[in-house]
This record gives sequence, C-alpha cells and structure tokens, in this order.
Amino acid sequence: MERTLSIVKPDGVRKNLIGDVIGRFEKNGLKVVGVKMTSLTRQQAEGFYAVHRARPFFGSLTEFMSSGPVVLMALEGDGAIKKVRDLMGATDPKKAAPGTIRADHADSIESNVVHGSDAPETAAFEIGYFFNALELL
Ligand code: CDP
Ligand code: MG
Repeated sequence: MERTLSIVKPDGVRKNLIGDVIGRFEKNGLKVVGVKMTSLTRQQAEGFYAVHRARPFFGSLTEFMSSGPVVLMALEGDGAIKKVRDLMGATDPKKAAPGTIRADHADSIESNVVHGSDAPETAAFEIGYFFNALELL
C-alpha cells in the first residue's frame, strides 16, 4: 500500500470537475484517506512548490494556485503514486495521453486541473504539508 497527495487545482474547481477527478481515482481502486477544500495563500503555494522556486514559471504558478479554492486529498492504494500520475496525464495537455484528466480537461501547461506527487519522498512531504495525523484514516 502506498499513499500520494493529489490536488484539484483552482481551474478544476472552477470548471466543476471535483467529482470527475475523485470519481476517476475511486473507479481505479484508490481510496480517499483524507480530503479537504481550502484556498491556499500565496505563501502556502510557494512552500508547496518550493522545489520549483528557481523555475521561470514559479511566480505565475503560485499566483494561479492561490487564485481560488482547491481540493486537497490523500489517496491510498497499490502503486498509488504512479496510478495517479497515469490518470492525470502529462503536464502539458497537448502531450497528455487520450482519456487522461489533463487531455480531457486541461486548458494549458499551467492550468492543468490536477496535481499528483511524483515519488515516495515528495508524497510524504506533500501529505504532511497539508494533513496532520488526525485528519487521515
Ligand atoms: O504537475 P507535474 O508534476 O506534471 O509538473 P511539474 O513539472 O512538477 O510542474 C508543476 C506545475 O507547474 C505543473 O503542473 C503546471 O501547473 C506548472 N508548470 C507550468 O506552469 N509551466 C511549465 N513549463 C511547467 C509546469
Ligand atoms: Mg510535479
């Protein structure tokens, strides 16, 4: 069993895609073990994406991520990290495989609807960034 952190980003919430995203995860055997809706401050978004702080898109990305409510969730399942990444599709929706969340719904490489942790260490950091032990099943 593995855990991962996913986010329905502000564009996904604005486009009424919360149910679609969570539904895809649940239909593919992932269990929601923690979930909450909140709005991130700019500072919280900067802390979450700290690994990207030197990248040219950091300012725009953190502005976008703090532009409206998000749904944060911790998911559990066999190979959960890769499963979520596969369901999301590539970062750039133009390169995302057909049938993935980003191919179906994303508008741009930035506004791409969903986040998923990319490795066990980042999953542990990201789950801990948003959830305390009492908030997880
Ligand atoms: O989210 P993912 O792991 O697929 O991509 P990333 O390389 O970790 O980048 C994090 C997020 O930054 C992406 O999901 C996009 O929202 C944004 N990004 C961007 O705006 N422009 C890029 N060239 C790359 C990423
Ligand atoms: Mg990433």
